[in-house]
Amino acid sequence: MRKGEKFILLGIAAVVLTLMAKNAVHQENVKEDDMEIPFYTTASTQLNRDAMAVYHKYQCKSCHSLWTVKDMLRTVPAPALDGIGSLRSREWLAEYLAAKDPQKILSSRLKAEFRMPSYADMPPGERNMLVDYLASLRVKDWYLDELKQSECKKLKGEDC
Ligand code: HEC
Repeated sequence: MRKGEKFILLGIAAVVLTLMAKNAVHQENVKEDDMEIPFYTTASTQLNRDAMAVYHKYQCKSCHSLWTVKDMLRTVPAPALDGIGSLRSREWLAEYLAAKDPQKILSSRLKAEFRMPSYADMPPGERNMLVDYLASLRVKDWYLDELKQSECKKLKGEDC
């Protein structure tokens, strides 16, 4: 190999190594939350589809947002349902959705028309499906505190 060629090869190696090092440092600096969406579901495809049909049938999205979908015509400050299964147990959700008076379980700061309606008359099959689905909506650990804060803020109307 000629001397000139050696220099060129060394030069290329140096550039490649510098780029690799830079990239490694950059990756370390990108926080986890910049890289991924914190919400996920453990539901099967079947449950996902069936429960979402019930969710739409009962117009939950006219007040709540889920997977960033919300009815844009109404602006009810109801808590988002993303990650709700990490905040409430399945039992709690079942009781809440079956309650004749949900505000006895979770008090409301809103005008009557915006409050969580009672779904006590919903057929148990549909309610169970919804409850299973809500319980499957999870949040990654690194976002849990932030989610608790924003849910609390929605419920209380002030910083918690
Ligand atoms: C008229 C608006 C409205 C509709 C429709 C509605 N909700 Fe709600 N929901 C609320 C509000 C507001 C709250 C917070 C408590 C309150 O103010 O009554 C709430 C609370 C909840 C909570 C508890 C949230 C928490 O932070 O613990 C769950 C779960 C929930 N709703 C699920 C549903 C489901 C499922 C449907 C459809 C079957 C639905 N909601 C329909 C307004 C609504």
